[in-house]
Amino acid sequence: MLKSIDPSGTSAWKQLKSHSEALKKVQLRHLFTSDNKRFDKFSISFQDGMLLDYSKNIINEETMKLLTSLAEECTLSHAIEQLFSGQKINKTENRSVLHTALRNRNAKPVLVDQDDVMPQIERVLEQMRGFTESLISGSWKGFTGKSITDVVNIGIGGSDLGPRMATEALKPYHVPHLSVHYVSNIDESDIVETLKALNPETTVFLIASKTFTTQETMMNAESARSWFLNVAHEKKHVAKHFAAMSVNAQAVADFGIEESKRFEFWDWVGGRFSLCSAVGLSVACAIGFENFEKLLEGAYEMDLHFGQTPFNKNIPVILALIGIWYGNFFDADTEAILPYDQYLHRFVPYIQQCNMESNGKSVDRNGQRVNYQTGPIVWGEPGTNGQHAFFQLLHQGTKFVPCDFLAPIETQHQSIEHHNKLLSNFFAQTEALAFGNVSDQLTQIEPFKLFRGNHPSNSILYKRLTPKTLGSLIAMYEHKVFTQGVIWNIFSFDQWGVELGKKMANKILPELEVDASVQSHDSSTNGLINHFKKIRSQSINK
Ligand code: F6P
Repeated sequence: MLKSIDPSGTSAWKQLKSHSEALKKVQLRHLFTSDNKRFDKFSISFQDGMLLDYSKNIINEETMKLLTSLAEECTLSHAIEQLFSGQKINKTENRSVLHTALRNRNAKPVLVDQDDVMPQIERVLEQMRGFTESLISGSWKGFTGKSITDVVNIGIGGSDLGPRMATEALKPYHVPHLSVHYVSNIDESDIVETLKALNPETTVFLIASKTFTTQETMMNAESARSWFLNVAHEKKHVAKHFAAMSVNAQAVADFGIEESKRFEFWDWVGGRFSLCSAVGLSVACAIGFENFEKLLEGAYEMDLHFGQTPFNKNIPVILALIGIWYGNFFDADTEAILPYDQYLHRFVPYIQQCNMESNGKSVDRNGQRVNYQTGPIVWGEPGTNGQHAFFQLLHQGTKFVPCDFLAPIETQHQSIEHHNKLLSNFFAQTEALAFGNVSDQLTQIEPFKLFRGNHPSNSILYKRLTPKTLGSLIAMYEHKVFTQGVIWNIFSFDQWGVELGKKMANKILPELEVDASVQSHDSSTNGLINHFKKIRSQSINK
């Protein structure tokens, strides 16, 4: 069980409060001129050339000492132990939280209710290996005896964002002859546009849903099955073209998918933490199973680092503490993630779910409303595109937006010229944000052209976006989010906040299926529904 400690009542929090008043008067450029060892002090190397530079933050050694004390007072070490040892820290759903077991590469058992979960994980990984290899080799045949050319993952939220992101991120590792597509939105445009170019004879659908009840996924799965049966006609052919990744064996069987085509995972894998489970099957199809295993290895290495490294050298912990520093003591509402790596163009939506669905909570672990800020708004775009869109606000606006910049050291392509230009922008932006164009010398700059600087950022450099590096980056952010949830004394692994809208949509759906006007809601909702019905009936009757 996680202990319940109000962070705002700790002595570290109180000290951070007064310390932050002093640091708010400090300029980053002075922090650098007064200490030429600053980069060495506030940067950490990780494997394969990965480096976190957090020196361009409005912090000093005292800040980091106090933030580390905050983590200690909030018993972070105990929480980390509880996470890795399968304790039921997802209390409101009475579940363990064991995405780390999915990529555990050592021989030690991991227990849930006294049972070692590792054999089941190994079994499903082997099932995934066999399936992936048969699709890639062409030995898996569709109902007309042709090899498979296209895989469509149907899922939403955690059953879509992670696999989609990783498939995009690892394009240079894609196997030839097999294309992977994603359908998530209940808006029919999504599935219609995806299926336009596909052939039912050579397409396999992976229905990814932990619960197998999610409205969007089930609707899209049914549409996919109709599209398929429209050509294949006989239901028995579904077996060769549909598989599922789900906890819910019964619902998968009811849909018509045989148990041997179900890739199991377990209720101790949260949807948004499920990329390393069977939910990653589409990624394995795209990059081959060996590369998928490398992604697991990379995540495992970050797990080890997180579990074993003192807080003052622990990358996820430091990122978490810096986020708390700005969110709770500098009133920052948002955090931007800016990958200078086009292959990471779906990374931000993925981390957005991980962070905002986990820590977008306002009630603490005692059920009391918190009196401090919790999860930030996470947003961003790949550089350099963002520079030509919203960086104006970052540099000269009134909002305080701490940023994470990420970039690869090596290009995956031929042109050093492109890559040097990309990286020169990466380095320039963090420098411009931190130091602006002001100095202590009295020079006249027109106010419109003045850059005050003092905008903090973290820089994360990695050698190249390999499957392993991607695994490490994913685990890095997962553990950052976990650490923050522990310190904020909230439950990071449930998502009750998504329930109300779902229930209300279910209530509204039958109201849309009849002609009568609706009076059961507030005047705005009634007005909107009735306007929708009126204009729709005019178009139907035309
Ligand atoms: O949005 C709520 C949510 O439960 C997410 O947490 C989850 O990732 C998503 O829906 C999809 O759920 P499922 O995998 O059960 O279809």
